[in-house]
Amino acid sequence: MREKIIAGNWKCYKTMDEARTLITEIIAGLEPNLNRTVVLCPPYPYLHLAKELVIGSRVKIGAQNLWKEDWGAYTGEISAPMLASLKVDFVIIGHSERREYFKEDGALLNAKLKKALAWNLRPIFCLGEKLREREEGVTFQVVETQLKEGLEGLSSEDMLKVVIAYEPVWAIGTGRNATPEQAQEVQQFLREKIGEFWGNKVAEQIPILYGGSVKPENIDSLMAMPDLDGALVGGASLKSQDFLRIIHFK
Ligand code: 13P
Repeated sequence: MREKIIAGNWKCYKTMDEARTLITEIIAGLEPNLNRTVVLCPPYPYLHLAKELVIGSRVKIGAQNLWKEDWGAYTGEISAPMLASLKVDFVIIGHSERREYFKEDGALLNAKLKKALAWNLRPIFCLGEKLREREEGVTFQVVETQLKEGLEGLSSEDMLKVVIAYEPVWAIGTGRNATPEQAQEVQQFLREKIGEFWGNKVAEQIPILYGGSVKPENIDSLMAMPDLDGALVGGASLKSQDFLRIIHFK
């Protein structure tokens, strides 16, 4: 049985008080003994608070980004050793919003991934095609290139710590999720490619999440697919009732 992961990417939302309320409500609503990894990725300023609030619960905390160097004159950046010193568990790398608005490319993402692994942070590596690419029929080529560039040089041992998130860009924040079949098709392809590059053991164990307009209404049908091992949730992770329903998918 592969690990099942539900991760909430809060993006650039919530005040500190709202963050405290949301985390507290999520912890209170979790069914005991649920065999799932739950990850909350609040904005950087709330990571310390979040780590304190989840003490004694099974909830893990992730950052939404990190810088590729450990230390230096990089005004405004946050590095892996800083996150490690907060005992942050996960870090999102390669989100399409970072690729698009901050021009992060494959080589930079690869450096960030290696830095995360060096500091024992589990990367959630995001990839996915844009609408135009899907319409042109190049989805598989696009995601294969993103996979190769982002994960280049990682050993099979490294790969066992990585989580992949397939997030088709056209489904993010649009209310238009990929159908379970569309997500399954790409995620099965990704698992096959991972098997080719890093071997069957990695392919069988690596969790591949789906992200893009995941909601209480569609989580069960998405999670029924064999190659969907969880979800990376944006908007619906900002409301405790919605996120709790998603965590407890059937
Ligand atoms: P939405 O769930 O708001 O579509 O966002 C998905 C996402 O980008 C998660 O990283």
